[in-house]
Amino acid sequence: MCGIIAYTGHRPAIPVIVEGLKKLEYRGYDSAGLAFALSEQIHLYRASGKLEALEDRLTSPIIMQPTSGIGHTRWATHGLPNEQNAHPHLDSSGSLALVHNGIIENFQELREELIKEGHQFNSETDTEVLVHLIAKGLQKMSSFPEAISWALSQIEGSYAFALISKDYPGKIWAARQASPLLLGVGTGENFVASDIPAFLQYTKDVVFLEDGELVEMDANSWQVYSVDSLKPVDKQVQHIAWDVQAAQKGGFKHFMLKEIFEQPRVIRDCLAGRIDRKKEQVILTELDDLPVPRRLHIVACGTSYHAGLWAKYLLEKWAHIPVEVEIASEFRYRHLVLNPDELVLAISQSGETADTLAGIRLAKEKGIKVIGLCNVVGSTVARESDRVIYTQAGPEISVASTKAMCSQLVLLYLLTLYWGQRQKVLPLDVLSKSIHTFSSLPDILETELPRLREKAAALSQEYAAARSFFFLGRGINYPLALEGALKLKEISYIHAEGYAAGEMKHGPIALIDPNFPTFALALNDELLPKVKSNLKEVEARGGKIIALTHPQTDLKVDHPWELPLLWGPLNSFMVLPALQLFAYEMAVYLGKDVDQPRNLAKSVTVE
Ligand code: M6R
Repeated sequence: MCGIIAYTGHRPAIPVIVEGLKKLEYRGYDSAGLAFALSEQIHLYRASGKLEALEDRLTSPIIMQPTSGIGHTRWATHGLPNEQNAHPHLDSSGSLALVHNGIIENFQELREELIKEGHQFNSETDTEVLVHLIAKGLQKMSSFPEAISWALSQIEGSYAFALISKDYPGKIWAARQASPLLLGVGTGENFVASDIPAFLQYTKDVVFLEDGELVEMDANSWQVYSVDSLKPVDKQVQHIAWDVQAAQKGGFKHFMLKEIFEQPRVIRDCLAGRIDRKKEQVILTELDDLPVPRRLHIVACGTSYHAGLWAKYLLEKWAHIPVEVEIASEFRYRHLVLNPDELVLAISQSGETADTLAGIRLAKEKGIKVIGLCNVVGSTVARESDRVIYTQAGPEISVASTKAMCSQLVLLYLLTLYWGQRQKVLPLDVLSKSIHTFSSLPDILETELPRLREKAAALSQEYAAARSFFFLGRGINYPLALEGALKLKEISYIHAEGYAAGEMKHGPIALIDPNFPTFALALNDELLPKVKSNLKEVEARGGKIIALTHPQTDLKVDHPWELPLLWGPLNSFMVLPALQLFAYEMAVYLGKDVDQPRNLAKSVTVE
């Protein structure tokens, strides 16, 4: 998705903006640009491709003069990813410059109308309509907030934008509706950005803007207004505990690798304060005043969806709660039958995924309470859910989600224990065995990760020529197989399909031949004999097999990959990084852009 950074203060603005854009690279982008007001003129710099291309153009000495400006990384939705369509966009007179994230759905009709009135358009984007509308508003209204409010009343869709004017250098206006935008409050300087890392090195004081809010700011002041009424809104400044280091690579070659290796720490953090060992109880005070649901609907996308599917097996087994897990983009358009004693659990790392948010809104419309499980503090999912459980994985920068899923699994596991206890159905030994295994898990994983990486690297060389992979698992390992396939395809661009191993014989097995390998999850659990039979079927068709397994499973496959045996479902915390590392090493070996895979964005804020 697009990334926005706007700065006004006492420093040279362009380096601040370029640095901010670099921190937003994880959102995925195909072009970038920036603008500033100087000597009663808007100066505009744009380039397609990577940020370096934009930086190469910033050679004029005037670049160091402005102390305010706006910047943007674009992820194309309307119009090709070229320089002309890159933001910022100007109005016809070149007085205003605007950067935007979101989609203006009625842009076509507005554009035609504006063209008839004499406005000149220079791009194919929906965004350009907005800057022209604000310019039109300024002809009729006396102030910027009024003109912006009027312009926004004309558009349908989503937006987060920042605007500057040649006549008011140092002033910035910004607003949001269904796309993320935050205000960073500094001393003698203020920021607006799509995400916190963009300004984290300058300030940790943040104001979370809500939908329908507009901010007017300069270096020394800021004020938030309601877009509709233009009445001032009182906002709290919140102090964020993240440090800049946490948002950087910390010596690893890629963010993805760093984030995979952070998983032991993530598990520790997720468990901290969540288990009362004396009382043998799970602490989830966020949910104490909510009844245990009669049925749970888990709504999520991508990796978060796989985490939900994994949790279904546990919640049904240990908490006796019927669970439906649904891809958010399907959930939002179903004719849902939801009962008041049911709950929706929305899982999202970013907390900004448009489809998941739509699921939350739908549930709330139907009077169903929503629990948000998300990573980003103050995100829209967090704010719109009735209760929120934070996963505390820290900023996840790599587009491929890794440590966030690990944190989701820990919290979903704890949620199962918590509701199982409240239902009085949790088998007696489960809590003590879970506590015991969880307490040693981070250390074991820390030791194991380098070994897993080594094995993954060796296998990646062996299998780099494969064009397709099956990932097979049964029971709780089925969602992990789906995740293994997703990871491999998104970063190495090798086609991969995750399947319930027992489903192979119903069609997919027709694809098996010596060039179509299978990655199996054949762990030492109650379904191992079944998985073994399924693998025999693959073998009989000449298919090569890599299998994550445990010692003494007596599994005869081409590449057995033995993991240390843990207790019960906690084995998933060893399987997950093995799958992640296999995809990672494969992508590295094939020379792919691991952290920013093509066509993908970190936070999918459009439908
Ligand atoms: O931020 P969210 O958890 O809501 O994101 C959901 C998906 O977009 C995300 O998991 C996506 O599938 C990742 N690229 C997976 O690595």
